[in-house]
Formats: sequence, C-alpha cells, structure tokens
Amino acid sequence: MPASDFSQAVRSESQRQHNYHRFTLRPLNGALGAEILGVDFSQPIDDGMISEIRRALLNHMVVIFRTQNVSPSRLAKIGRYFGDLHINPFVSGTDDVKEVISIRSEENHEKRFTGLWHSDISWGAEPSMGSLLYAVTLPDCGGDTLFANMNMAYDTLSPGYKALLGGLKAEHRVDRFHHSKAQFADTPTPVIHPVIRTHPETHKKSLFVNEYFTSRFENMSEEESRPMLDYLFEHAVRPDFTCRIQWSPGTLVFWDNRCTQHYATNDYSGQRRLMHRVTVAGDRPY
Ligand code: SIN
Repeated sequence: MPASDFSQAVRSESQRQHNYHRFTLRPLNGALGAEILGVDFSQPIDDGMISEIRRALLNHMVVIFRTQNVSPSRLAKIGRYFGDLHINPFVSGTDDVKEVISIRSEENHEKRFTGLWHSDISWGAEPSMGSLLYAVTLPDCGGDTLFANMNMAYDTLSPGYKALLGGLKAEHRVDRFHHSKAQFADTPTPVIHPVIRTHPETHKKSLFVNEYFTSRFENMSEEESRPMLDYLFEHAVRPDFTCRIQWSPGTLVFWDNRCTQHYATNDYSGQRRLMHRVTVAGDRPY
C-alpha cells in the first residue's frame, strides 16, 4: 500500500478514537505523534487520566506534553503510573534516583548521544514498553528528536517480503555501535528477537530491527545479513513514516518502543543539551 493511502487509513482510524474526556489531543501529522493539552504532571494523576494517556499512546505512539515542571523523582513516579521501571545496567542514575538516566551532551563533547535510529533496550531479553524523556537544558536551536512508525514500515512491505521476514529472527546487541565499548566490563550477551513483532496491546504487526542494536539475522553471518538489514533500516525511516519533535525546556515526551524507533539529531555542536529519561519495562517480543 502506498504510504499516503496508509497514513489516510491511520488518520481516519485514530480520528474515530479521539473522544478523550480529560484533555485535548492534536495529532502532529498522518504518521504518528500527538500533542496533549491540559495535563499537569506536577499535580497528582488519577486512574482515569492514566488510562486516557495510555489510550492516546496506543493510538498515536508518541505523545507530547509541553510546559511541565518535573524533578527526577517526579519523573520516576510518572513513569511508574505506566509500569515497572527498567534500571539500565550500563548508565548510572541521576540525583540518587536510580531509574532516571541523564542524556547529556556538553559543549566540548564531540560525540552526542545516539545519532542512530533505535528502539530503547531492544538489546534486552525484554525490551522496553515505552520511554519518557524530559527536556531540562537545550541548545539555542537543534537537538530535535525524530520518531518513526514501525507499523507503517511493516504494512508498506510487499506480501512476499512480509512472509519472508515473518520467519526470521535477528540478533540485537548493546555493544554493536557503542561509542565506548570500554564501558562494558564483560561482553553483554546478545539477544534474539523476531524481525516482525506483534504489539501485545494493539495486536498490530511491526518491523522490529534497528540500525543501532541489530547486528545480523539468526543463523547468518553479519556479512550475509547486511544487504537485507540495510534495506530494512532505510525503509523503516522513510520520511512518510516519521514525525519530528522540537523541544522546549519542560517538554515531556512519552513514546511506545514496541512500535516506533527514534533518532536524536546531532546538529548543535558546542552547545549543552540535558534530558532526563525513564524507561518503562516491557515484555518478550513475539
Ligand atoms: C534516546 O535515545 O532515548 C534519547 C533521545 C534524545 O535525546 O532525543
């Protein structure tokens, strides 16, 4: 299906589901992402609000809340509304809150955090359900984050390719591209996940390989896997499947790692950017 027809179908399906009672929601574009107005995370959040935010996340994959005021401990509490929090074994926590990691680029850093498309913790046996990222300090301009819709990436493949990929699994490893492999005392164990996964809540299929962590297909060498993986990495992030988020201090973004990938742009050389992130634990892909 051409991407334009598909995004039309996504849009009309999500329009039907836009009866939110607790806030106003504005979709960003035809692919994914929605801005939510009328939620203040500095106040207690009740079960009705949590379930509406969850529904918005399932419909739009990425939800954006502007002008929040969230300390690391409050961010951990907000994350826990949506599930248990993942503790990253390779990155230490922030301000004594072990579940909150700082994503920090200083003025003199040559390398920035990521700059490669990925889904958080796909290198784990149970990859993350979702991540919440809060903007603390930002460059004057730049440092946007791009997101891509992996349901669209799957749906726009041909029937033959879908059938081929449906029988494949792939290896994911945290050290595939890592800037400083030296940080790993022991080689972390790679994991194997299906190339096509089914979302445990929406039951939609999505492409689940990413440039940052996926190294090869199961039972194939990296060289043999390379051409097909390269095709999939490029296909997955076609502009038609993406949205771009421009941050301001106090922006909080919550995304679903089971059906998206994201990419932090590296375009603010010589400037500082500090974000706080919590990662909600997920389950084994199938
Ligand atoms: C991340 O990869 O989780 C961070 C994205 C960003 O810093 O924009």
